Amino acid sequence: MLSLTNPRVEVRGRVCLVTGGARGMGKLWAEAFAADGARLVLWDMDGEALKQTAAEFRARGWPVFTQTVDVAKRSRVYAAAAQVAEEFGTVDILVNNAGIVAAGKFLETKDERLEATINVDLMALMWTTKAFLPGMIERGAGHIINISSAAGFIGVPYMPSYCAAKWGVLGLTEALRLEMKVLGHKGIGFCVFCPSFVDTGMFRGAKPPLLTPMLSPEQAIKRGYEGFRSGAYVIKEPFMVKLTPALQALLPTPIFDTVSDLFNATTSMAAWKGHDG
Ligand SMILES: NC(=O)c1ccc[n+]([C@@H]2O[C@H](COP(=O)([O-])OP(=O)(O)OC[C@H]3O[C@@H](n4cnc5c(N)ncnc54)[C@H](O)[C@@H]3O)[C@@H](O)[C@H]2O)c1
Repeated sequence: MLSLTNPRVEVRGRVCLVTGGARGMGKLWAEAFAADGARLVLWDMDGEALKQTAAEFRARGWPVFTQTVDVAKRSRVYAAAAQVAEEFGTVDILVNNAGIVAAGKFLETKDERLEATINVDLMALMWTTKAFLPGMIERGAGHIINISSAAGFIGVPYMPSYCAAKWGVLGLTEALRLEMKVLGHKGIGFCVFCPSFVDTGMFRGAKPPLLTPMLSPEQAIKRGYEGFRSGAYVIKEPFMVKLTPALQALLPTPIFDTVSDLFNATTSMAAWKGHDG
């Protein structure tokens, strides 16, 4: 029978790998999983931050396996994944969280920075998915959480490459979800988290649009993690992020643009001075 509600996702005892897990929201995803009894694998390219986070987690009684991985490097992803397979067997829950932003006027953004944004924020998800999805299919169970953004369906001036990557994340996840169904691979869950601005430093200086408050990282992850546990597929936070796609679909473009201007959505990134990765 067709059920309209999803069963709660179990995490106790599951192996959970978080990319970009050394700080920011990745660290908070990891904390939420550890607190609920998951076994953690953390990847980050910042080896020092990773060491500190691992020490902190171990002091809290949470064992953690860490690997310094630049997720944009395909061969490194595959090699690290092979090591994870040796240590743990299958990864049950993959959180594709690592991300960077290239902000500023598009024509003034260095080519290398545009490329890096697509490589880290989008291509890397293909490499980790290729590495871990086969194990999930084989066991008939697993969950992939991909971090997109409100910028995954709203165009934001001064960060077109970030928008391109995050729109790509939504398309990738949706197509993969359907492909698993069509191929008859049951038991694989997908979740896409699309927050607006979150106060981690990535968007320092940005001015959130009206009625779209900057979330604290803790607020964002509380909503994202609870949404995931309750089986939600696309999680948009805060409320205006849920409403915007409906407005965009209903309003003629010039009117939608005017509303965006009135809400300061089009100028939100004008004064960005956040960290670059
Ligand atoms: N902060 C926001 O306002 C916001 C809003 C929507 C979506 N997001 C997304 O949420 C995710 C986490 O963002 P955050 O704000 O916590 O960022 P953050 O900068 O605080 O943390 C990102 C982490 O990813 C790691 N990382 C970066 N590039 C990497 C690479 N190539 N390989 C491995 N690790 C790498 C960093 O070292 C860092 O530990 C990102 O995907 C981001 O795009 C952030």
